[in-house]
Amino acid sequence: MKNRYAVVLAAGKGTRMKSSLYKVLHPVCGKPMVQHIVDQLTACEVDDIVTIVGHGADKVKDQLGERTSYALQAEQLGTGHAVMQAESVLGGKDGTTLVVSGDTPLLTAETLTELMKHHEETGAKATILTAVAEDPTGYGRVLRNDGDQVERIVEHKDATYKERRVKEINTGTYVFDNTALFDALANVGNDNVQGEYYLPDVIEILQTRGETVSAHIAPDFNETMGVNDRVALSEAEKWMKRRINRHWMTQGVSMTDPEQTYISSDAVIGADTVIEPGSMIKGNVTIGQGCVIGPHTVIEESAVADNSVIRQSTVNRSRVGSGVAIGPFAHLRPETTLGNDVKVGNFVELKKMSMGDGSKASHLSYLGDADIGSDVNMGCGSITVNYDGKNKFLTTIEDGAFVGCNANLIAPVTVGKGAYVAAGSTITDDVPGESLAIARARQTNKEGYSKK
Ligand code: UD1
Ligand code: CA
Repeated sequence: MKNRYAVVLAAGKGTRMKSSLYKVLHPVCGKPMVQHIVDQLTACEVDDIVTIVGHGADKVKDQLGERTSYALQAEQLGTGHAVMQAESVLGGKDGTTLVVSGDTPLLTAETLTELMKHHEETGAKATILTAVAEDPTGYGRVLRNDGDQVERIVEHKDATYKERRVKEINTGTYVFDNTALFDALANVGNDNVQGEYYLPDVIEILQTRGETVSAHIAPDFNETMGVNDRVALSEAEKWMKRRINRHWMTQGVSMTDPEQTYISSDAVIGADTVIEPGSMIKGNVTIGQGCVIGPHTVIEESAVADNSVIRQSTVNRSRVGSGVAIGPFAHLRPETTLGNDVKVGNFVELKKMSMGDGSKASHLSYLGDADIGSDVNMGCGSITVNYDGKNKFLTTIEDGAFVGCNANLIAPVTVGKGAYVAAGSTITDDVPGESLAIARARQTNKEGYSKK
């Protein structure tokens, strides 16, 4: 097999996004567009990926890291000019070069591999991935001759009224013979409406030289769509969401309403888990088997083990054991770790804390900076008073302790193993194991008071 290279175009600012974030870094289902492309290229087993960076170069490099090499396009003079910047890395090399845009996030490794295969089989010097668009507005149009051969690409802005009626578009994805590419690029001019050096002009140059130029029509336009503005971004999000949801459904995950279910590209979900509508699984999340998530649950950067139920709640940077019941309306903030068979009920907020197997906080609690053992009962309204206005302090509650309703535990403090804290107590001193602490004013009744 010939050497295979890839060039990713990612130097543009993305003016039409009207954003301070560079276009290719806009996320689709939680992952930046350019990362989607590089992930697919990595799956294609190309020998070297060169990313063309310009606007936001450092941020793009931070995102992609060591997986690609980089070439700088200091001034954005067009897609042809962009590819030319890769000459320092790829010039003179023998092989096949795939060129993709950083703004076509839905392209799959499968389609790219098909395209390269088609290119290698036809022996063409250039093969362009085209698609048939219902509404081709904005895209370059593919112009074919009477023999149905691709002759050239005309940009929307340069096209005549008649040319604009063509529905076959340039997806911005191509495979070239590497030396023919750089050779032809040297001859691309900028005499067009935008005054730019267009990469698609290479097609016409090779074609007039009598070289074979081929086209491969993508089976699905949606996969090839380019994202230039926020409207297209939301479309891309919709198609990516469908693809991700379909994948997990084929793996045994149930979704009551997949259109209302948002799962990041990096999530992993076990079989027989049900995701109810309005739920968002964001970033790196693993969910085990047999769970029920939602409705209206947000889980971010967390791990949930098997058979847990999380209803109408928010879980962020936390770890949840198996058989756990959370919600409705619970809030797990970062660094919360729950053991197995834990119960966290409504209006409970947890932060930087852990709770051992079988423990419960069923209603209206704030438990932060706490180390809670197993089989502990935290009564309704119990609170760890962790903050004195300057510093945070730890509350320790040992196995089997029972904390009554509306108890304030003023940290630093320890409630010993199997100890009881009476309802309404404000605990300032450690409670020894197996004992009962009562810290509240005694009740006095003033009889006949209301008649006075
Ligand atoms: C381009 C194609 C068009 C095709 C469409 C498919 C050209 C001239 N036009 O148009 O035929 O139908 O993609 O989506 O190629 N970029 C650089 N440096 C530059 C200019 C652009 O790196 O100087 C990068 C951008 O960051 C972007 C990609 O190249 O990722 C494509 O540029 P964009 O301006 O989006 O091209 P389109 O107008 O969409
Ligand atoms: Ca584009």
